Amino acid sequence: MNFSVQKTTWKRARATAIAMFQPEDKRELRETLKSLGRTSVGLTAETLLGAGDMAGKKDELFVLYPKRAEAAAKRVLLVGLGKKEKLSLETVRRAASRAAKRAQALKSKSLAVMLPAVKGASGAEIAAAYAEGTLLGLYKFDKFFKKEEPKVPLESVTILEDSGSLHGSTSAEVKAAMEEAQLICQATIFARDMENEPSNNKFPETLAAWAKDVGKEHGVKVTVFGPKELQANKMVGILGVNQGSVREPRFIMMEYSGARSKETQPIVLVGKGITFDSGGISLKPGAGMGEMKGDMSGAATVIATMKAVASLKLPVNVIGLVSSSENMPSGSAMHPGDILTYSNGLSVEVDNTDAEGRLVLADALIWAERYKPKSVIDLATLTGACVVALGHVTTGMMGNDASMMERLKRAGDATYERVCELPIYDEYDELIKSDVADIKNVGGRWAGAITAAMFLKRFTNYPWVHLDIAGTALADAATDYAPKGGTGTGVRLLTHMLQEEARA
Ligand code: BES
Ligand code: MN
Ligand code: ZN
Repeated sequence: MNFSVQKTTWKRARATAIAMFQPEDKRELRETLKSLGRTSVGLTAETLLGAGDMAGKKDELFVLYPKRAEAAAKRVLLVGLGKKEKLSLETVRRAASRAAKRAQALKSKSLAVMLPAVKGASGAEIAAAYAEGTLLGLYKFDKFFKKEEPKVPLESVTILEDSGSLHGSTSAEVKAAMEEAQLICQATIFARDMENEPSNNKFPETLAAWAKDVGKEHGVKVTVFGPKELQANKMVGILGVNQGSVREPRFIMMEYSGARSKETQPIVLVGKGITFDSGGISLKPGAGMGEMKGDMSGAATVIATMKAVASLKLPVNVIGLVSSSENMPSGSAMHPGDILTYSNGLSVEVDNTDAEGRLVLADALIWAERYKPKSVIDLATLTGACVVALGHVTTGMMGNDASMMERLKRAGDATYERVCELPIYDEYDELIKSDVADIKNVGGRWAGAITAAMFLKRFTNYPWVHLDIAGTALADAATDYAPKGGTGTGVRLLTHMLQEEARA
């Protein structure tokens, strides 16, 4: 998408569509419609006003057609924003996505925009949110459809600069913010594509290839372990989970050194990369099992965040680690009751082979120690219990790094990829005690999201945060700027946090 800023009025803008935004405010609405009124034919502002059909409500979108002699653009999209008091950057993302989708449906290649105002936000921030809504809203996973009619994609978005319309920012700031947002959205879309790829086309080696693509394109060092190296390094969790699969496992390491000093302690990101989770011998029920192609969303987030950070050239050091395997039942699969002894000496009773995520993450968490991390953040579609607790609205967050959790909360509010902290009190440790090993991999009926974190905690001896994205990475219904399926959740969250880290 080509983003630009142009000093001109909406009447002169040479785009095939103009987008104007209207909060639910009678006086403003009257003014907006009046300023449009005399120039319109067909469905005119007067008709709208007279019929009382527009109020500025959230889901309203009207297309007006100005007279040729009066305006350069063919059409004006009048987009409702909802209640003025609730107007936020998220409102802008959603409104932008609706405008972009309608413009594209009308085969408009270019859209000129009067940015709405958001209290407390600069024009650059509003423009970045606008770009995000546009790019993420137009996303579709359509590579497997037999090609239908040729698409006419929206190609450009021009922010109109008229008196005060950039809300305190310069045109250069607005343009730079949109270009940054574009890099982050490209990474988010990459994550969505990885998540949505079906499991007959996506294996541990595929995740490794995707990571290597990022490495080549952006200068990130990528190292990949196969079965031999996994054995040599006693990565028993990944190997155990992999036992039932005919596809080889992989452990992927990505290193980005952007900090001004090489010695700066890195932030390590760890992702769960189960390319299909059948449950193994503790087989899942059939209904909805196809969703488990997305059980590598943590890995997708990590790989895509490395892409975002490197393409933004952030002055930070970041390591990405991915533990990847399929989880399949077969004659060679792990049995419930098996005991694994990890390289840190801790033994684990595999009470349920469907609690495989924590088993593969444990190897990565042990491995992370060697980087002397400032903080380790793991991301995993780890528990159905987290979805029961928080639904698809917010990511579950647990950990011992209070300052990082605070920063992630702020980044979550800014990006609307919100996180909600759950406790990891010592008492929960009781639930993963085993009769035959140091711990077991399931904690029983209660507090399932937390007992998973209690398990992971045993493999950390550094500042650490766990993000359970089971509910947020895989949407069961479309929202304004994310279709059903992989959402790429975590990429904007982590990148925002790392941008703040770079500024600190
Ligand atoms: N990948 C699943 C968790 C999951 C569930 C992700 C729903 C996304 C949507 C994970 O490996 C799993 O199977 N967890 C079990 C753990 C249980 C056996 C303790 C679960 O949540 O049922
Ligand atoms: Mn599972
Ligand atoms: Zn899983």
